[in-house]
Amino acid sequence: MSNRKIGLVVLAVASLYAGHAVAQEGNWRDGRKVFAKCKTCHSFAEGKTLFGPSLAGVFDRKAGTAPGYSYSGAMQAKNAAGLVWSDETMDAFLTKPKAFIPKTKMKFPGLSDAQDRANIIVYMKRRASR
Ligand code: HEC
Repeated sequence: MSNRKIGLVVLAVASLYAGHAVAQEGNWRDGRKVFAKCKTCHSFAEGKTLFGPSLAGVFDRKAGTAPGYSYSGAMQAKNAAGLVWSDETMDAFLTKPKAFIPKTKMKFPGLSDAQDRANIIVYMKRRASR
């Protein structure tokens, strides 16, 4: 391969990675739209239970610890195992809740789009930490 060709290949690979990085960065406004799918079951108001627990302060906290909410045995087992909600664990859970926590009582199929997940996580952090 000529030097010029190698240069082009390097450029193409570099731009692929750059594109990937941009796609992973969350945008809270888009995340708010994605959260419409969660609204019937989750509030960000402290202690407000809908079908699911309040998401107030959910990040950096152990799973299954919203005050006054009766979690499934599956979520309690994750709590006992030390699961904490971070960007990574939230992303894994929201991809397919029933795969990440078999027998969870959260009846939601998941968000298959990585960009939707990145966006909703930024939005949730913004709302949950107020
Ligand atoms: C049909 C109602 C429903 C929908 C829709 C729903 N959830 Fe849930 N969610 C639940 C229930 C019920 C639980 C408790 C699960 C358990 O105890 O196993 C839960 C648990 C959670 C938890 C764990 C909270 C904690 O305190 O550990 C998070 C985070 C969460 N949901 C986020 C979301 C997000 C984000 C969406 C939308 C993409 C969503 N949920 C959609 C009902 C729902």
